Amino acid sequence: MKITVQTKGGQFEYDVDTGETLLAGALRNGITLPYECATGTCGTCRGRIMTGDCHMGWDEAPGAARLKREKGDCLLCQTTATSDALVRVPSSKVTDHFERGHVPCHCKGTLTNSRMLTHDVMHFDLVLDRPLNFDAGQFVTLSCDQVVGARAYSMVNYAADAQILSFVVKHLPGGGFGDWLFGEDVDGTEVSVFGALGAATFYPEEDRNIICIGGGSGIAGMMSILDRACQEKYFTDHAGHVFFGVRTMADSFYLAELASFAEQAGENLSITVALSDEDPGLKRHPEFDALKLDTGFVHEAASRAMAGRYDNAIGYVAGPPPMVDASLRVLVADGKLPVSDIRYDKFS
Ligand SMILES: Cc1cc2nc3c(=O)[nH]c(=O)nc-3n(C[C@H](O)[C@H](O)[C@H](O)COP(=O)(O)OP(=O)(O)OC[C@H]3O[C@@H](n4cnc5c(N)ncnc54)[C@H](O)[C@@H]3O)c2cc1C
Ligand code: FES
Repeated sequence: MKITVQTKGGQFEYDVDTGETLLAGALRNGITLPYECATGTCGTCRGRIMTGDCHMGWDEAPGAARLKREKGDCLLCQTTATSDALVRVPSSKVTDHFERGHVPCHCKGTLTNSRMLTHDVMHFDLVLDRPLNFDAGQFVTLSCDQVVGARAYSMVNYAADAQILSFVVKHLPGGGFGDWLFGEDVDGTEVSVFGALGAATFYPEEDRNIICIGGGSGIAGMMSILDRACQEKYFTDHAGHVFFGVRTMADSFYLAELASFAEQAGENLSITVALSDEDPGLKRHPEFDALKLDTGFVHEAASRAMAGRYDNAIGYVAGPPPMVDASLRVLVADGKLPVSDIRYDKFS
């Protein structure tokens, strides 16, 4: 099907496959339609169907709450077409090329190496049927026959031409993907992958000090950023401050990997694990001496540690929406970082 998109900055045309969302089709063709979550929650990908047969798959999507559905408004990340269509998108920034990063694509991945990191957090790898290029901090959407709709997950690792993507998932009670993932032996299952997506990206050539604040599985993209930064010996001449928030020590994970990053990077990288529901009574982790400990919410720990140290900094934040909002307030109010220097993903 041919999709024509009218925007405030011009008109674009692209082909979309049967069952492919209008957003995925556009991005795959290098057309930069606006989006954030790519999974129906944020409302950023709003468009209006002017002509053509299109169907929005998830009627109750939170991102659709304010849409004028009677006028043809839809979420492009949830909408597929069964005929050629004309769509209006209220943006002046759409272009037909990516200025930075990699044009996303569809591929398949086979789940492997799934293992529990805590009672409700799992790590797994996907072995891809073709190499994928992505930027540290990006995510992909995963979908499978067992669960309705796609879910967004951030890569934990970093590699050019990656054949394997690693993920960490927290099980939210009653969640569709989580119930499936944690409920049976999923190794060997094939899932559909689309990406890479997202703008919470790390580029070494930007030459900035980095502040990473991750809540729970929000540490995923930070791990990818640290992986790339350590590969490039970035902390030889840049500072890094990482804050990882969990409730208790028993909820923490990836500590050996984080300690290894801290040891490789040397004194320019500081990593703090903040426990919101427990006072460790120690300044350093008893097993991983390279990791600092603090008590309280992760944004509070970041605020305390970063006072007066925001020079030339760029901020990365990911995790549950209230934690992201609180951390953004710290970076803006305490750090005086301009919005353009803060990159975040809300795991909603
Ligand atoms: C950019 C981004 C990156 C993320 N990265 C991670 C990560 O690295 N680790 C992690 O643990 N979590 C991550 N999340 C959250 C993750 O995508 C899921 O929301 C979470 O795992 C809960 O999924 P669930 O299926 O268990 O719960 P559910 O409540 O069943 O679903 C949660 C989400 O799935 C989608 N969804 C639900 N039902 C439908 C439907 N009928 N049709 C279409 N879509 C539907 C919606 O986006 C919904 O918000 C990320 C979220 C975003 C936006
Ligand atoms: S990008 Fe479609 S609702 Fe978030």
